[in-house]
Amino acid sequence: MLRFGTQGADGEFYELTLEHPGSASTAWQNWKPGQFVMVRPTAWEHNPLWGRPFSIHKADGDTLSVFFQVIGRGTRGLARLAPGDEVTVWGPLGNAFAVRDDRPTLVLAGGIGIAPFYEYLRRHPSPDKLRLVFGHRPPAESYPLGIMEKYVKCEAYREKGPEDLKAFIGLLGDIVPEYATDGHIVACGPLPFLKTIQTIAAEAGGRAQLSLENRMACGVGACLGCVCEHKDSGPVSVCARGPVFWSDEITF
Ligand SMILES: Cc1cc2nc3c(=O)[nH]c(=O)nc-3n(C[C@H](O)[C@H](O)[C@H](O)COP(=O)(O)OP(=O)(O)OC[C@H]3O[C@@H](n4cnc5c(N)ncnc54)[C@H](O)[C@@H]3O)c2cc1C
Ligand code: FES
Repeated sequence: MLRFGTQGADGEFYELTLEHPGSASTAWQNWKPGQFVMVRPTAWEHNPLWGRPFSIHKADGDTLSVFFQVIGRGTRGLARLAPGDEVTVWGPLGNAFAVRDDRPTLVLAGGIGIAPFYEYLRRHPSPDKLRLVFGHRPPAESYPLGIMEKYVKCEAYREKGPEDLKAFIGLLGDIVPEYATDGHIVACGPLPFLKTIQTIAAEAGGRAQLSLENRMACGVGACLGCVCEHKDSGPVSVCARGPVFWSDEITF
């Protein structure tokens, strides 16, 4: 396990790499960035009962990686895994970000929302059309930005106080309208960040693709624990219909 922090404590970041023999299956051969997995170490037995959802950070024929931040008992448990521990993985689940190689594409990541974009950038057929803007609070070294810089220059903005936040929202106000109308936007991050993008895109008469990270339990549409409000369909499961939605399809 690759650790980006130093203490193994809440708030720290880990890249967990799992060997997954199931990767030979067609589903894994055809997975797309934006999809996610439910992860549950075998040692949890019945406590916690449910697996935890994570964006697929990297996946090749032999391994699967998730990049996560420790925020509670599930992620704390994952951070304590040792080589050889067994983990059950359900996936790939959900839908994916659209790829528009004919349009300039703005990739907007907030904090841990950077996780799904490594593969999005790596696989994009027209890297020259990509722009990555990343807002974060912990130091930039907490995130796997180095490996992403191979594909696109990362414009990282650290929020240390209210002035930084104001400036970052101002930046979004400057750049989102153009991409929301004449380009393509994919975004993942905390709810206020997604709401801001949704509002700016709507005011400009455009839209963006937002990946929602609602809390989940079953991960497959059975428990209704992760619903969001869809403008046409009413309450829908984020795990089964998303996690990626167009910003003009949903209300927060
Ligand atoms: C599709 C999807 C992809 C995700 N991808 C990633 C990823 O790549 N990396 C990553 O670090 N996290 C990701 N998450 C969020 C991750 O699933 C949660 O951080 C994790 O389930 C928390 O489990 P826990 O047991 O550690 O926390 P808990 O003990 O369950 O909760 C601890 C605290 O965190 C809050 N919390 C728990 N889950 C969430 C959530 N989803 N959103 C906001 N607050 C929450 C709780 O309300 C509580 O205050 C993703 C979520 C979804 C739905
Ligand atoms: S987590 Fe059960 S329906 Fe989405």
